[in-house]
This record gives sequence, structure tokens and C-alpha cells, in this order.
Amino acid sequence: MHTQINNITIGYSDQGTGLPIVFLHAFPLNRTMWATQESLLSLQFRIITIDLRGHGESDAPLWRYTLEQSTDDVRALLDHLEIQRALFVGLSMGGYILFAFYRKYAARVKGLILADTKAQADTEEGKNGRLQLAQIAYKKGPPAIADIMIPKLLSPTTIQTNPDLVQQVRAMIESTQISGIAGDLMAMAERPDTVPLLSQITCPTQIIVGELDLATPPSDAKLMAEQIPHAHLTIIPNAAHLANLEQPETFNQIVSTFALNLEK
Ligand code: MLT
Repeated sequence: MHTQINNITIGYSDQGTGLPIVFLHAFPLNRTMWATQESLLSLQFRIITIDLRGHGESDAPLWRYTLEQSTDDVRALLDHLEIQRALFVGLSMGGYILFAFYRKYAARVKGLILADTKAQADTEEGKNGRLQLAQIAYKKGPPAIADIMIPKLLSPTTIQTNPDLVQQVRAMIESTQISGIAGDLMAMAERPDTVPLLSQITCPTQIIVGELDLATPPSDAKLMAEQIPHAHLTIIPNAAHLANLEQPETFNQIVSTFALNLEK
């Protein structure tokens, strides 16, 4: 499905009934990374997945990107779907956007699942790395970004033993427009430090991290779990950064249990 939001086309999907759960994807992927979550969890809940601007079936304008803009796109989509409050699941960049969303629209948040993400801003080295990656995207195109990103997103065992999953991730990255890749890199480099917000998060919160995640390691998840009041942390074995794709059953179980508790 598509709709016009903030002067661009946004692609999304809306399946099932019951508690609305909104899924925000990682960089540089798209909403199809949630396909397994969507097909199983939509039997119990209303599952909304969004292509963030710059990705999938959404437009990838050339002009400047900010995470706040994506936050406003998500808010506008909720309005379009007439959803007042939802449970939100954000993985990595999706989690960064959730922090920005919570800052602005906390009243729309019934619960948060922060997966393989972190609250700290980029270091200077991290920002320089993003500039380099944007240069590579312009010079060599998305396939070169896939070569660099895949070892950061998936565990060595997944890369060796699950070629279909590796191909699925590669295809998502290769289909992303250069403007979207560079735009997001710029937006993530500029995001503020969210650590001071953590102690003010009052909604029920579940934190998930793959035990082998190198991009946003378990130490980052523990920091969020220590500072967000009553947050619960689950570390998923045999998963790296894309824990929902590497261990979908465990991931779905965590989301489903948390969502059922929210409904009580
Ligand atoms: C992601 O998975 O969204 C990215 O690895 C996040 C990042 O680059 O900080």
C-alpha cells in the first residue's frame, strides 16, 4: 500500500486486527525485513510495517534527511490509519527513530521494543565512517554498500550456512537508492545523544539484542536496560545485528509475549 505523506509517497503494509504494532526497519533495508514477523504476528495483532523515506517503495528524495522527518512520517501514517496509540518495534536505525518519536509524541506510544539499537550519539570516528560510506555509495553504488554491511549485520555462521538469508539482505540493500543511503547516513550522524532521555521513558519497554551483535553490542542494550525504568532485556543467542531475521521464532515470541502483556 502507498500514501502521500509530507509531500512524498510512503509505502507501508497493514495486516491483521487487534493491538496495533508498528515496525521500523534498519539501515539500509526496508519493511520486507519484517516479513516473518508480519505473517505470524498478524494472526494475533494488527501489524503495520513502513518503508521509511529513502527505502523500499517510499520515495527517496535528494534533499536533506533527518530522523525527525521520519518521525513525522510515522506520525502522519498513524493519523492516516486512524491509530491513536500503538506498540512500536524499532531495530537499529528504527530504534533511533523511535527515540525521536518518543521525544515528540510520547502520548502515541503504548509500549516500546528497542531491538539491536543504542542510545548514544555517534562518536567523531563514527561520523567520519558514515561520510566514507556515503562516498562509497556515490562512487560504487549499493552493491558495494552490501559488501561492507553484510558482515556487520549477520553473524559469521549465518553468512556461511544461510545463503538465502544473505541474498535476501543483499537484495534489500541493492534495491535502496543512493539518495536514501546517503540521506540516512547524514541523518544518523546528526542524531542527538538519547542517554539523558532514557530515565524519562515511562511506557513498558522491552530491549532485545543478538548476543553476537557487533554494531550495537549487548553492552549498549544493557545501558538502556539499566536506565529505562522497569525495562526488560532479552539477549538472543546465535544472532548478530539482524536478530529478527537470524532467530525469527525467538524474536516473534518476545514480541508476542510483550504485546499480550500490554493488552492485559
Ligand atoms: C542499522 O542497522 O540500522 C545501522 O547499522 C545503524 C547504524 O549504522 O548506526
